[in-house]
Amino acid sequence: MRLNPKTELRALRQSPKTLRARRGLSAALLWLAVSASNASDGAALHQKSCASCHNGMFPGGKGEMNYSAEFRKITQLTQLRQRVETCASRVNAGWFDEEIDGVTQWLNQRFYRFPSGK
Ligand code: HEC
Repeated sequence: MRLNPKTELRALRQSPKTLRARRGLSAALLWLAVSASNASDGAALHQKSCASCHNGMFPGGKGEMNYSAEFRKITQLTQLRQRVETCASRVNAGWFDEEIDGVTQWLNQRFYRFPSGK
């Protein structure tokens, strides 16, 4: 398409505004993405990137046994987060801190039950 000079000029004059609006929109989208990543999302993230390998390690595909009192090696919340972070980067999950926190929270609420804040 060939714009006539007048239209082009108008487009140029409008562009800073348009850019600002776009930036506002992507900030809003980012905020939405971040706030959606909480513990409830942790379950889905874990299912997607982590469960299948753990499931292959236990009879009957019960990978969650990995986190049971019988099998777990993790003894602290900080260690749990560290482990989630290491595993996530090993499988190239592409998680940000929010996702790592979400999965850590979910694992802790559902299995480990370490006191938080440590
Ligand atoms: C390729 C296989 C594989 C994948 C994928 C995998 N894990 Fe693991 N995971 C293991 C193995 C094997 C162990 C147990 C052996 C060990 O302690 O080193 C383990 C142990 C763990 C433990 C420690 C359990 C405990 O208390 O001892 C945590 C937590 C964990 N994985 C989290 C994750 C998370 C989160 C993901 C997804 C980002 C993930 N894993 C993906 C293989 C995997």
